[in-house]
Amino acid sequence: MGKEPSGEFEYSRGLEGVSAAISAMSRIDGDDGILIYRGIPIEIMAENSTFEEATYFLLFGNLPNKKELDDFTTEMKEYRKLTSEEIEWIKNFPKGGHPMDALKTCVSYMGMEEPPPPGEKQTLRGFTKNGKKIIARLPSFVAAFDRARNGKEILQPDNSLPHAANFLYMLHGEKPDEESAKILDLAFILHADHGMNASTFSTYVTSSTLSDIYSSIITGIGTLRGPLHGGANERVVAMLQQIGSPENAEDYIMKAIKEHKKIMGFGHRVYKAYDPRAKILKDYAKNLAGKEESKLVETAIKVEEIMMREVSKKGIFPNVDFYSGFAYKAIGIPTDLFTPIFAVSRVSGWVGHCIEYRQQNRIFRPRAIYNGPIDVEYTPMDERE
Ligand code: CMC
Repeated sequence: MGKEPSGEFEYSRGLEGVSAAISAMSRIDGDDGILIYRGIPIEIMAENSTFEEATYFLLFGNLPNKKELDDFTTEMKEYRKLTSEEIEWIKNFPKGGHPMDALKTCVSYMGMEEPPPPGEKQTLRGFTKNGKKIIARLPSFVAAFDRARNGKEILQPDNSLPHAANFLYMLHGEKPDEESAKILDLAFILHADHGMNASTFSTYVTSSTLSDIYSSIITGIGTLRGPLHGGANERVVAMLQQIGSPENAEDYIMKAIKEHKKIMGFGHRVYKAYDPRAKILKDYAKNLAGKEESKLVETAIKVEEIMMREVSKKGIFPNVDFYSGFAYKAIGIPTDLFTPIFAVSRVSGWVGHCIEYRQQNRIFRPRAIYNGPIDVEYTPMDERE
């Protein structure tokens, strides 16, 4: 309990154990390692669904019938297309910029192309429509930026392809094989929503001021980028490359534990058991790994073994970021696009939560416990030391 001149209130570091909203979208049972989307276990969604269907489900609350899914898919395909202004703009981005910065900038530009009416004047329908546009166009932005920075022609979407396969087409310039499209679709489903995670919370905060959905999503992208959240997947691969081989894992990990360093891809605020998404991705990683990746996968499995032996008793297990990078690597995605791909998936959750919260909106306005001095005298400049 903190004390301030104006009253007393609870303080929870990092808001641990605090519920900030009521949501019917996804639930994590951290003790047993269970994740559900609107009641359906993630394993069932992964096996049977598609990103388009999962997005519809998260946004609107029901599994779509055929017509609903067809209409939704058609609408999303319309929104994928890049405007000629967007293409020109992306071509001029600094080539060395991080793709997460490019993504924020693109969403901002998109919001300026068709400015939504101010907060209270925008209908829920208009808000939702803008959200759908962002979900549909994010992959086009990521692919366009990657091609532009590599001096390649920016491609428009191929509307004969589903969402994930089209992203790979726009990135690589050729239609992907079935397996690559499937694994990316699976990764998109697995990352689409995850309760009140940091980036989702930040989109709530922005949206709660009745700001527009573009601003909310930009906030989410910025929050996701950090290494404690979505940025961990990039660092997992870098760490494994540094370890180099399974034989080096013991010394590396034991030294890191001794020095109280965090091992990327492990630990979670909510899961105190194995993250179910990591379990699914681990199986894929093992099967997919080509020659180059298989050494990394072997190293990862050794790292996991040591971590399980040393820290699983503290509730630290692999999280989704530990194995996702292998899937992306195996389908030819550059390392610095791993976190943007997380954003391309999580955007469904961000938009869904913003829509949901708009209907129960109250501005977020927590307190800070002031621990500075009070009644300090103002010292004129010429009397200061
Ligand atoms: N490696 C080693 N020790 C760890 C790790 C780790 N990855 N994660 C937590 N711990 C230890 C930590 O040192 C602390 O130990 P002690 O109590 O002895 O000081 C204890 O576990 C609690 O850690 P915390 O940092 O207070 O836990 P948190 O709930 O604030 O943080 C986390 C959760 C995910 C930020 C943290 O586990 C972490 O930094 N992990 C590495 C980064 C990572 O993989 N992030 C991706 C998260 S999953 C994808 C997503 O949703 O973004």
